[in-house]
Amino acid sequence: MIDQNLIARFQPYRPTNSLFLSFEGIEGSGKTTQIQRLKASLEELGLNVTLMREPGGTPFGEKMREAILTSEEKISPVAEACLMAASRAQLLEQRIIPLLEEKDNIVIVDRYIDSSLAYQGSARGLGAQSVLEIHNRHPLTIVPSLTFYLKIDLETSMKRQDHRGSKKDYFEKENSQFYTKLIEGYDHACSIFTERFQVIDGKKTQDEVSSDILSAAQKLIKG
Ligand code: TYD
Repeated sequence: MIDQNLIARFQPYRPTNSLFLSFEGIEGSGKTTQIQRLKASLEELGLNVTLMREPGGTPFGEKMREAILTSEEKISPVAEACLMAASRAQLLEQRIIPLLEEKDNIVIVDRYIDSSLAYQGSARGLGAQSVLEIHNRHPLTIVPSLTFYLKIDLETSMKRQDHRGSKKDYFEKENSQFYTKLIEGYDHACSIFTERFQVIDGKKTQDEVSSDILSAAQKLIKG
């Protein structure tokens, strides 16, 4: 069981007149396409949207990203978790917080803390409590207003990855057991942060997925 006081530290961030959204999913879930589509739809409504990715999103964070994803050497799970958190802290201070405080901005991040819960917490075995403890200091306690989790099963992920056929990075080289644990990790994160998570069926058609996402985002904007 995770300490409830620790969980309570991670309240969805709802700054006035700004919105902080994240996208999560395993490889092949369609995140990248859906993020682009949501950005286009929100811009059509006249809103300012900024996209960012993790790890990365700042010059220093991109160096960390490159170092992790091209690593030929096994990285210690604790080091992995700390590097992801370091990149996140840098992104928060340098870009996310200033944009959200400026008002009238929508920030969308491609992966955030829930990737750390799924990849480092579950798949690498650190546990959710340890990952949250690493984040238990400002600004890392800042979490999005809404997180879209594009949920697909293992078979769909494997099939879509085969179709891509591009060179595999550090995490894409992992086996199906790793992906099974990732899915469990995301399910666990959903059960911890029920209010923040919006689970989207990633097996639906691209248009159906886009419309599910847009309607949830609009509800939040109007609400
Ligand atoms: P990326 O190419 O962006 O993956 P995808 O296109 O699937 O989003 O690579 C980012 C990788 O980093 C991805 O495999 C997940 C991993 N990751 C973690 O392990 N922990 C984290 O906290 C984050 C943000 C990413």
